[in-house]
Amino acid sequence: MPDHVYIITGASSGLGAELSKQLLHEDNYVLCLSRTENDDVRRQAAGHNYSFHSIDLSHMEGLNDIMQDIFAKIELSDIESITLINNAASVSPIKDIQDCTQEEIMANIQLNLTTPIMLTSNFIRRTSEWNVNRRIVSISSGSAHYPAQGMSLYCSTKSALNMFSQCVGLEQERSTNEVQVFVIDPGMMDTAMQKIARNSDFELSAFFSKQKSEGNLSDPANVATKIISIINSPLIKNGDIHRV
Ligand SMILES: NC(=O)c1ccc[n+]([C@@H]2O[C@H](COP(=O)([O-])OP(=O)(O)OC[C@H]3O[C@@H](n4cnc5c(N)ncnc54)[C@H](OP(=O)(O)O)[C@@H]3O)[C@@H](O)[C@H]2O)c1
Repeated sequence: MPDHVYIITGASSGLGAELSKQLLHEDNYVLCLSRTENDDVRRQAAGHNYSFHSIDLSHMEGLNDIMQDIFAKIELSDIESITLINNAASVSPIKDIQDCTQEEIMANIQLNLTTPIMLTSNFIRRTSEWNVNRRIVSISSGSAHYPAQGMSLYCSTKSALNMFSQCVGLEQERSTNEVQVFVIDPGMMDTAMQKIARNSDFELSAFFSKQKSEGNLSDPANVATKIISIINSPLIKNGDIHRV
């Protein structure tokens, strides 16, 4: 069994795929969760400790079962650390709230907020007796701080995710077996999510198009490298919100 375990949601695209690729290393076991598997990640994972778990994280069903499957694969006696990276999210629906269907609202809140909360709770409970370094990193966004028309669900779920992580960070500070819980805002990256934002029919699409044409979007591979170094920094404190 390798020394370090990483559970990554939204591993099929953008930042999650880059994190997965860069964490594929002989000392690591990388467990990827998303609806689809990334072909490059699968190819690069040959010979490494890797597993892919197909799940729709915009539904509650299956969350506990998948955590059960994942934890059944881990041999506690061998590992030094375990890290959950709550990365999966969606910017959709991009429309005024009265135009969103109930299903769209529920799916967005479940994926962006309820699922990370459930996984955090599940992770802390399952590992509470473990004497290894435990970390939960949630990927947030600058949108948590900037209200935007047509993006009320994305902005508010990211804002709530920040507050949730800060609260759990405080809870963990008074625990005798502390889990490090913190947030990383990756900044704007050239990914599928950005493409959705610039191709959507709303006021801010011109802003997002300008960011792309002016070269202001970061390469997700570079962002992933920085995030891995933040995750492994000894300076991390509970409840921190880091900006890449
Ligand atoms: N891109 C930016 O400019 C930017 C800026 C600030 C913050 N962020 C944050 O960075 C993180 C990564 O974003 P990204 O730009 O890399 O996004 P992305 O390229 O759109 O990738 C999103 C990932 O989430 C997964 N996902 C979406 N819906 C899912 C569902 N229902 N069930 C399971 N997995 C689902 C997708 O996998 P499947 O489709 O295979 O399920 C995919 O792997 C997100 O938390 C985002 O909010 C991004």
